[in-house]
Amino acid sequence: MNEMMLGRINHIAIVVPDLDGAAAQWQARTGAEVSAPQSLPEHGVRVVFVVAENGKIELLEPLDDSSPIAAFLARNPDGGMHHICFDVDDLYASRDRLIDSGARILGSHEPKIGAHGKPVLFIHPKDMTGTLVELQQA
Ligand code: CO
Repeated sequence: MNEMMLGRINHIAIVVPDLDGAAAQWQARTGAEVSAPQSLPEHGVRVVFVVAENGKIELLEPLDDSSPIAAFLARNPDGGMHHICFDVDDLYASRDRLIDSGARILGSHEPKIGAHGKPVLFIHPKDMTGTLVELQQA
C-alpha cells in the first residue's frame, strides 16, 4: 500500500503561446502524428499530443488568464518545458506515499481527470527537485 512504482513516462508537457501554431510546427518539423486539440476546462488548458515511440509530447496553452499555466507563460513568453508525467499502477497508494514522504500535492489531494480521461495528480515542484511532476493512473 505504501509502494510507488514509477511506470513509463507518459508525456512531457510544453507550454506554448499559440497551440495551433505549435501543433503545426511539430507536425511540419517531425512528421509525427499530432492529435486534434482538446479543451480541458477543469485544468484551464487546451492541449494537443504529439506521438513519439516511447511517450508523447503534450503541448498546452492557457484557456484564459485564470489558467494555472498563465503565469508560466507570462514568465516564459516563448513557451517552455512545464512538466513530466509518469504512469503509476496505483495513484492513491502513490499519493499516500508522497504525502508520507513530506511532498505536497497540488490543489485538493483528490485526483482530477486528465487529458487521457484517467485520474491524475501533480506533485509540488519544490518537493521534486524543481520540476513539476504529474502522476497518471495507468
Ligand atoms: Co500533463
